[in-house]
Amino acid sequence: KSILVIHGPNLNMLGTREPQHYGSQTLADINQHLLELARADQVRLESFQSNSEAEIIEKIHALSVNRVDYVIINPAAFTHTSIAIRDALSAVNIPFIEVHLSNVHARESFRHHSYFSDLATAVICGLGAEGYYAAYRYIQQR
Ligand code: DQA
Repeated sequence: KSILVIHGPNLNMLGTREPQHYGSQTLADINQHLLELARADQVRLESFQSNSEAEIIEKIHALSVNRVDYVIINPAAFTHTSIAIRDALSAVNIPFIEVHLSNVHARESFRHHSYFSDLATAVICGLGAEGYYAAYRYIQQR
């Protein structure tokens, strides 16, 4: 099995960024834990973070050559804005799970709409870092 984990903008600031919403784990902590899970299961897992919409799109396009079985993506603020990242995921036609650390539905109304959810296999929000691990476990088991 192979999984690409994509983290969108500002998630490099995890740990210090609004811990009441996003918890105290850093992105390095989350990626490290995902890698440990993957190693134990002999799953190929890569994590990628970018603050740039273009870089995220290009990373997704690269999957059309180097395919993976599944993508786990937290598009962060691009969730609510990016038709372009949505279209990139459609273009490569790789199943994905959408993850948000916070419960976006309990927050500002502009966070209630996602350009990704109707295409996603599943949407996990509000579980903090556990959401990534749950997404991983689902993919690993299927
Ligand atoms: C987020 C929620 C988004 O609304 C926000 O812009 C983020 C992080 C989350 O993980 O809870 O940057 O995707």
